[in-house]
Amino acid sequence: MINLAVFASGTGTNFDAIVKAIDDGKLDAKVVLMVCDKSNAKVIDKALKANIDTYVFDPKAFSSKMEYDNCIKLECQKRNVDLICLAGYMRIVSNVLLDAYPNRIINIHPSLLPAFKGKDAIKQAYMYGVKVMGVSIHYVNEDLDGGSIIAQKAFELNDMSFEQAESRIHEIEHELYPNTIKKIIEEDF
Ligand code: GRF
Repeated sequence: MINLAVFASGTGTNFDAIVKAIDDGKLDAKVVLMVCDKSNAKVIDKALKANIDTYVFDPKAFSSKMEYDNCIKLECQKRNVDLICLAGYMRIVSNVLLDAYPNRIINIHPSLLPAFKGKDAIKQAYMYGVKVMGVSIHYVNEDLDGGSIIAQKAFELNDMSFEQAESRIHEIEHELYPNTIKKIIEEDF
């Protein structure tokens, strides 16, 4: 059984999609830890409801990123985490975690990378006037949204409103992330 850790900072709909895929028997894995850097994030309630261990930390309480990443690393190691899935985790991961989990940290990003990295990617793409939007899943390295791409799914905007495009993105995310994790587990473990 592959042990997953999901890192999130916000609502946690992708966290939920992963947990649901496991509950529905579509993904043979276990979420053993949810890591969150915001004490008021909605994802925390979702983890508690799903009976999943949480590690919630305040970055300001640490003197450096290395220091809190080291605590996160220990929490992961304690639970024998095999794969770390970032799902709306708004922090760059340091070498402390990258070295401990080489090629074992992945992220979901709501654009067709390498276009529209960083925050508000859906808005960035929509405002730019692109004709095609989509979602990327990639390995994490020290560059923001920079590691090699594992999976992408695109759709044509046609005359969609921003809200329609946004909800299509999330719909794709909730299917693509569990499916990609499943593929990684089957091929790499
Ligand atoms: C998603 O759009 C994901 O692609 C991005 O952050 C958002 C997180 O949403 N990295 P949620 O917290 O999973 O609902």
